[in-house]
Amino acid sequence: MSLMEALHWRYAAKRMNGAEVPQATLDTILEAASLAPSSYGLQPYSVLVVQDPTLRERIRHAACNQPQVSECSHLLIFAIWTEVDGRHVDELIALTAAARGIDPEELEGYRQSLHAAVAGFTTPEARQQWAARQAYIALGTALTAAAAERVDASPMEGFDPPAMDALLGLEEQGLRSVVLLALGYRDTQQDRLAGQAKVRWPRERFVVEWSGA
Ligand SMILES: Cc1cc2nc3c(=O)[nH]c(=O)nc-3n(C[C@H](O)[C@H](O)[C@H](O)COP(=O)(O)O)c2cc1C
Repeated sequence: MSLMEALHWRYAAKRMNGAEVPQATLDTILEAASLAPSSYGLQPYSVLVVQDPTLRERIRHAACNQPQVSECSHLLIFAIWTEVDGRHVDELIALTAAARGIDPEELEGYRQSLHAAVAGFTTPEARQQWAARQAYIALGTALTAAAAERVDASPMEGFDPPAMDALLGLEEQGLRSVVLLALGYRDTQQDRLAGQAKVRWPRERFVVEWSGA
C-alpha cells in the first residue's frame, strides 16, 4: 500500500473491535513517533502507553465516555514535560555527542544557544504551549505510521486534562496530558463512519498559490 493509499484508508475510528495490535507493530508506530522532528530536537514530551483494560475504563470516564478508549488495543497519551530547562539541554548535548562520536566541547556554542532558548519563554504557559506543538508533530507522525501499518488510530482531544493528570498522577512526574491516540482495529459493523467518504476542503481552498499581497 502506498503512502497516499494509507492516508485515504485511515480515518478517526469511533468504534474499535478490541483486537490487539502486535507488539512489533506497536513498536514501529512508537519508533515513528520518536523520529518526528522537534524544536531544537528537545522532544519535550513523553508518550505513555496504556494497555490495562481496567485503567482504560477509568480513563474513559475522563474522556467524555468515548468508546475507543476501552475498545482500542493500546491507548497512547501524549504528555508534555511541564519543565524544560538547562538540565534537559545538557542531557541532549551529551546524547548528541555520544550518538555522533564527537567531543561535547565542539557543541559548546550550540549548548549555550539552547540554554538561552529554553530560558527565553516569557511564561510557563508559553513554554508548555511550545511543548504541546512539538507533541502534536509526533501525534501526526504516529497517525501516519499507524495507517502505513494498517492500524486504526483515533486522535482525541475530547478529554478533561486535569482529571486525566490527577487519575494518572502525572503532575508528580512533571507531565501534563495534551492529546490521546487510541490504536486498534475499526469495528465496521458498529462504526457509522467506517467506509464513509473523506471530507476535506477542495485543493483551491487549502493550497494558496501566493504571489504577494
Ligand atoms: C487533535 C485532534 C483531536 C481530535 N479529537 C477527537 C475526539 O476527541 N473525538 C473524536 O471522535 N474525534 C476526534 N478527532 C478526530 C477528528 O474529528 C477527525 O480527524 C476529523 O473529523 C477528520 O476525519 P478523519 O480523521 O476521519 O479523516 C480529533 C482529531 C485531531 C487531529
